[in-house]
Amino acid sequence: RSAPPATLVIFGASGDLTRRKLLPAVESLARHNRLPNQFALVGVARTPMGDDQFAGSALGGRNLNDKAQLAGGIRYVSGGYDDPDTYKRLAETLDLLDAERGTSGNRIFYLSTPAEAFEPVINGLAGAGLNHAREGSFSRLVIEKPYGRDLATAHELDGVVHAAFEEPSVFRIDHYLGKDTVQNVLALRFANSIFQPIWDRSWVDHVQITVAETLGVGTRGGFYEHAGAMRDIVQNHVLQVLALALMEPPASFEAEGLRNEKVKLLQAIRLPTNRDIADLSVRGQYTRGGTREDLMAGYREEVGVDPLSRTETYAAMRLNVDNWRWAGVPFYVRTGKRLPARVTEVALQFQRPPHLPIPQDQLTGLEADALILRIQPNEGISLRFGAKVPGHSFRVRTASMDFSYEQTFAEESPEAYERLLLDAMLGDPTLFIRADEVEQCWRIVDPIIEHWASDRSPIPTYEAASWGPTDAERLIGRSGRHWRNSA
Ligand code: BG6
Repeated sequence: RSAPPATLVIFGASGDLTRRKLLPAVESLARHNRLPNQFALVGVARTPMGDDQFAGSALGGRNLNDKAQLAGGIRYVSGGYDDPDTYKRLAETLDLLDAERGTSGNRIFYLSTPAEAFEPVINGLAGAGLNHAREGSFSRLVIEKPYGRDLATAHELDGVVHAAFEEPSVFRIDHYLGKDTVQNVLALRFANSIFQPIWDRSWVDHVQITVAETLGVGTRGGFYEHAGAMRDIVQNHVLQVLALALMEPPASFEAEGLRNEKVKLLQAIRLPTNRDIADLSVRGQYTRGGTREDLMAGYREEVGVDPLSRTETYAAMRLNVDNWRWAGVPFYVRTGKRLPARVTEVALQFQRPPHLPIPQDQLTGLEADALILRIQPNEGISLRFGAKVPGHSFRVRTASMDFSYEQTFAEESPEAYERLLLDAMLGDPTLFIRADEVEQCWRIVDPIIEHWASDRSPIPTYEAASWGPTDAERLIGRSGRHWRNSA
């Protein structure tokens, strides 16, 4: 796959995401010769900086002078996002680069700024006519999360976006979709025939989706205070993974067909009612914890966090999908910061056999069959099943068949952002979120976020490096089930 000539313009060029993810992704694409020869990179931000300084951080100290795709093609434009002059200077820079680098008027505007800047930047681009490409060229908008704070603000943002860009030119990022293991959910389900027959309510007892992080909020306290776990992870990453895992088979992996199936699945998720919302959702906030050698601060002690903050750093809920495939199957999802392990996985737990011809006392250590898709780390898949223990008696215990990405494939996975940047350059929207998907996701989380906002009781807490508040155990325990790994 070779990308067409283009200039990538990153707004928020001096920010954290640009430094940690976007510039390394560009650099790696260049190193692997995946960028077109006619390529240019422009950073835009308020922080004053010279072209050379920005190029230095883009290249991460690596000498890429022999990489024609980057050498000499990096510019920096500093200015306010609501100042028309910024866009005038940007337009001049882009014209110059087209002439110097042969980038053909193709532009990708990547919004990696705080969300408040999305609207001024889009309006600024439109004011300078940069939203309209020349005949035969393209002008695309790539937008980071958060896409709105709720359904209403996502709608408003759509209005702003669509006033300047047509939907096919809009690429909403969820970096989880750029992960190979997330795409592998599709491969597992639809490139094989053996899983599809058991992928429904006749065989699946319940599904658990976990996005557990060991990190706290770090230096992002100011941002996180306005987000919380539900907006930061559940509304996007968790629901995207869930949609891929539960949707109906699409006829092809063509973008619209695939996204239609995801939307249909999301639409089938039942909204909690006022009566059951408290039973179906749990939040929590981490307090100081860990070991004496490694004592971790509580959330309220983190930089940029209100000492009386009510922001949740843990969220769990039980969802139901009202369709023929999944009616009656509970889906438990949870995410949290400062949990004991970093693990993202989708675990399908299967029903117990209808009858066991083996006495109970010979089944100690036999758990229900499960298929675990490990998104990260230790990327792979495990199938857990009962096996006869060697010996003269007939005892059965749980064993596991494991597939490991690392051991099976020699190649390393590209970083999610590399894949997505390349797709945006290629104009392939398959792994980006359509406007109606974002709205469906807000529809699902909004009632719970609103319920929490109006609930004045103290926010449940959990110690750093523990598996979340005790309420989370109650959420799943109510049906006699329990969370995986959460001893
Ligand atoms: C981001 C969230 O979208 O995803 C962060 O804003 C979170 O809070 C991160 O840490 C997790 O991404 P990954 O790829 O490390 O699982």
